[in-house]
Amino acid sequence: MAILFKTTPAAMTRWRPHLTAAFSGHEVRLWPDIGDPVAIDYALVWHPEPGLLASLPNLRLIVSLGAGVDHILRDPLLPPSVPILRLLDPYMTDAMSEYVILNVLRLHRQDIDYRAQQAAAEWRERDQKNAAERTVGILGFGTLGRDAARKLKMIGFEVAGWSRTARDVPGFRTYVGDAGRDALLARSEILVSLLPMTAATENILDAALFARLPRGAGLVNAGRGRQLVEADLLAALDSGQLSAAVLDVFRDEPLPPEHPFWCHPRIVVTPHVAAETHPPTALPIIAAAIRDFEAGRPVANMVDAKRGY
Ligand code: NAP
Ligand code: GLV
Repeated sequence: MAILFKTTPAAMTRWRPHLTAAFSGHEVRLWPDIGDPVAIDYALVWHPEPGLLASLPNLRLIVSLGAGVDHILRDPLLPPSVPILRLLDPYMTDAMSEYVILNVLRLHRQDIDYRAQQAAAEWRERDQKNAAERTVGILGFGTLGRDAARKLKMIGFEVAGWSRTARDVPGFRTYVGDAGRDALLARSEILVSLLPMTAATENILDAALFARLPRGAGLVNAGRGRQLVEADLLAALDSGQLSAAVLDVFRDEPLPPEHPFWCHPRIVVTPHVAAETHPPTALPIIAAAIRDFEAGRPVANMVDAKRGY
């Protein structure tokens, strides 16, 4: 029994020291040295090239080395009958909430303006609100969105969430559907997107959506880059409809050096690090899921490929 492991070269340096000890009873094969594909039962992958998974005739389970699975589902040759498990790790959830809190506070406390004032040696006090006077809207009220919401609420923010299906989340106003999304947008001075990438969420962060936010709202996108219409963001920042954006994910990653986002004074760029996978905590979770799968026990966090996340 063998496990195929495939991630980016940069991430491999984090995973490699932990891999051999993680899976007793399974040989771990590091891509591209996959050996005889017939022996591979499990594939642990991040951005597998199209066709790789289809080339493994005895594959029983695909494990995403991240919470998102769009990097797997986009493969036109993906074997339809092989179940997909996504990685949910409380360590990553905490990391995402840290990122959201950092950047919601950055927008709330006008940190981008104060940094610009410092660069210009300009001493000027800006009008300030308390967190309790601002609503943060979260698009995608799943594992990550709800954890961030709870922590933002502890700081004092009013937080509301939008999901695909109706969710009763005690302590939060929740919204569903197009009308619900518009109602949430109307009150969100800071909008956080933690949506999975699906056909329904592609290009969702566009001019029409920005126009429904209060004028001068801030945006944090840590979902996926293809959810953002980049030209619409630049236009909304130019017009003042949006005051600033913090972006962790991009259409093209790495973000090309000539991309206008790098130097934009109202955009903060981070290199897809909001919630990195953490091998020491992730591997025991994956190993336990594989043990449950082999024993025929229910496995949490299986992906609904039709739903797309
Ligand atoms: P999740 O638990 O599946 O939550 C997804 C949420 O989005 C759910 O509330 C879901 O609604 C909602 N949703 C999905 N499609 C929708 C639609 N068309 N309209 C409205 N709501 C919709 O996922 P998660 O673990 O929170 O992760 C979310 C995403 O974060 C991942 O897919 C990934 O893209 C991104 N992510 C980014 C990083 C990073 O470092 N930047 C790290 C990890 C994850 P329901 O509740 O009704 O299902
Ligand atoms: C990162 O983007 C993930 O999906 O875990």
